[in-house]
Amino acid sequence: MERIKDVLAREPGVEAGAVRVGGWVRTRRDSKAGFSFVEINDGSCLASLQVVAGRDLPNYERDVLCLSMGSSVAVDGVLVASPGAGQKVELRATAMEVIGRADPETYPLQKKEISYERLREIAHLRPRTNTFGAVLRIRGELAYAVHSFFRERGFICLHSPIITTSDCEGAGAMFRVTTIDPGAPPRRPDGAVDTARDFFGASAYLTVSGQLEAEACACGVGRVYTFGPTFRAENSNTWRHLAEFWMVEPEMAFADLDADAQLAESFIRALACHVLANCGAELEFFRKRVDDGVVKRLESAATKPFDRMTYTEAVERLKASDRKFEYAPEWGGDLQSEHERVLTEICGGAVVVTDFPASIKPFYMRRSEDGRTVAAMDVLAPGIGEIIGGSQREERLDALEQNMRERGMDPANYGWFLDLRRYGTVPHAGFGLGFERMVQFCTGMRNIRDVIPFPRTPGNAEF
Ligand code: 4AD
Ligand code: MG
Repeated sequence: MERIKDVLAREPGVEAGAVRVGGWVRTRRDSKAGFSFVEINDGSCLASLQVVAGRDLPNYERDVLCLSMGSSVAVDGVLVASPGAGQKVELRATAMEVIGRADPETYPLQKKEISYERLREIAHLRPRTNTFGAVLRIRGELAYAVHSFFRERGFICLHSPIITTSDCEGAGAMFRVTTIDPGAPPRRPDGAVDTARDFFGASAYLTVSGQLEAEACACGVGRVYTFGPTFRAENSNTWRHLAEFWMVEPEMAFADLDADAQLAESFIRALACHVLANCGAELEFFRKRVDDGVVKRLESAATKPFDRMTYTEAVERLKASDRKFEYAPEWGGDLQSEHERVLTEICGGAVVVTDFPASIKPFYMRRSEDGRTVAAMDVLAPGIGEIIGGSQREERLDALEQNMRERGMDPANYGWFLDLRRYGTVPHAGFGLGFERMVQFCTGMRNIRDVIPFPRTPGNAEF
């Protein structure tokens, strides 16, 4: 079986020889002259292959004339130059086998437009659509580009644990992992559930980030990155939040905030360049059908240096702008998505915001000399807002313990993490890229649920 992508790239004629392809029928048109055009798509590329099947096929009337959208077929044929407009080659079928029929009365995908909302309800069939096929191909290319970017720079790919007993972001929105029977939990003498008798001997959760383990490994082998699923149990029903999303988290020893921001910028630039160079047909599709600004934004990310500003400057710029905000920008408050959008508009592209107030950031970020900000950075991308969050880490034992106590955390529960500061501590830094937000940035897809194969959000874990 050949991929349609490869077949379409071949020159027609005798040397093209016999071809065998498999795919799903998109359309069928019958000519009065006793043959049919059947468009077949196999998802290897956006384009479909036009198959010409005639009455000379023994099963023409029985099978070909009954083909409808979604049926699967295997076709043998000869590749010839196509007289029709729109394609260079077509396949003259010498044999056509119908493998699985799709009843047109009930098959949920039909020729007419279908909303993204409806497609989410049939997430198992949406890989057969143009839009979702293109999303999956770009997502796959991005994953490849992530690994090559880091490998080329000497970063070691790290598989950090999914199950954890520590809360990295300190936001308290984690999914519990337990084998305790909720109907008959083991109890302590005081009546409370005895989590010490749970599977891991302690309360365990799905990780919100691989960072803490990445720090441990970076402080041994220098440069690492994780690329795995992370979980947040927040009840956020927005266009850019998932309960399960994939994060890329590099961590570097002997690095400060500036090195971190430089790595983040080169990383996004490399991903943008890779998609521009390798996904031309998909980008053209998204530009025409989904968001006409997507290619311009990618080209800007690929070529224009990112702006930099401190959080304090960002708040001033927002206050000085004549925009109306739902939440007034105020020093000490989180940057809302409306603020992030305006900042990228002011800068005309991606911007790195640094030096946030300590009070709105997690315990592990390095406290700056001013005492009230930390060496944090967020990269804001046009159309997305925060796409990367990262920081230089607090490498001083006293300062880290102090940060924990200020947040009501007990340093005793983070013994191993503190050991990294107790023994041979070094300045180090890293960040996390939300992989789905990057796929959104590269496709222009408005809702994050449409850039991951099977989204998990509050109330939704079907498929
Ligand atoms: O800013 P966050 O929470 O940072 C961390 O988790 C750090 N431990 C990363 C690090 O320094 N190693 O998350 C990082 C990125 C965000 O910028 C965003 O792109 C994405 O992860 N993200 C989400 N994406 C989808 N759904 C969610 N609920 C997300 N929460 C964060
Ligand atoms: Mg963040």
